[in-house]
Amino acid sequence: MFSFFKKKSNIILPEPPDLVVDLHSHLIPGIDDGAKNIEESLKLLSGLQSLGYTKVITTPHIMIDAYGNTKKSVLKGLETLKKRAEEAGITLCIDAASEYYLDEGLLPLIKKKELLLINNTYLLFETSYNHRPQQLEEIIFEILASGYTPLLAHPERYNYIKNVDEYHALKEIGAHFQVNINSFNGYYGSHAKEYAHALSQHGLIDFLGSDTHHRKHIDNLKTVLQSDNYKEIYLHNTIKNPTLI
Ligand SMILES: [Fe+2]
Repeated sequence: MFSFFKKKSNIILPEPPDLVVDLHSHLIPGIDDGAKNIEESLKLLSGLQSLGYTKVITTPHIMIDAYGNTKKSVLKGLETLKKRAEEAGITLCIDAASEYYLDEGLLPLIKKKELLLINNTYLLFETSYNHRPQQLEEIIFEILASGYTPLLAHPERYNYIKNVDEYHALKEIGAHFQVNINSFNGYYGSHAKEYAHALSQHGLIDFLGSDTHHRKHIDNLKTVLQSDNYKEIYLHNTIKNPTLI
């Protein structure tokens, strides 16, 4: 019985359940700032598999000013990735959605319903790191009105959010939150670390993502997944990753 528990000072932390599914990564080669070629993609997939994931929903950037990706181009890349992964003996289930940047291109895609969603439900989106978009609430309403669930990527990384009340306000209008696992040990700096822990302590986290772009992310994930910091997340949050299987 006691082998299931690890002691940290005077707090006994239960071992967390397996995440099983990762829902945020950049593994389709050459189409964004993630894997540069298929060899790197396969190494990253193997790395995620070795961490215990059985399914990966990879999410290339769709951002007007930086990456000209479309639903069609992402799905084409997914087919190639799946074929090469199978040939390489990788047993992970591989699917794709997208990480949409909140720019002028997003609303038309929502209106046209030309979207790549996580499990046909969650629209993963991100914003500028430094400037609060004026249309943040509006886009959340539009996503909900279209019948989808808005899922804000790495809310802890936005420097324009400076207190937990702002997260509560976004949650109250229907936003869901996907926090990056690597934020918990300071990989993205002190602001992201502080707010990842705050989101955790307030029970505001819905999903945990790897946001894997390259090998360093996998190495850091391994460290965090074995830490007491990570185990503490499960004391306050119901993590929904396994529902995406
Ligand atoms: Fe990302």
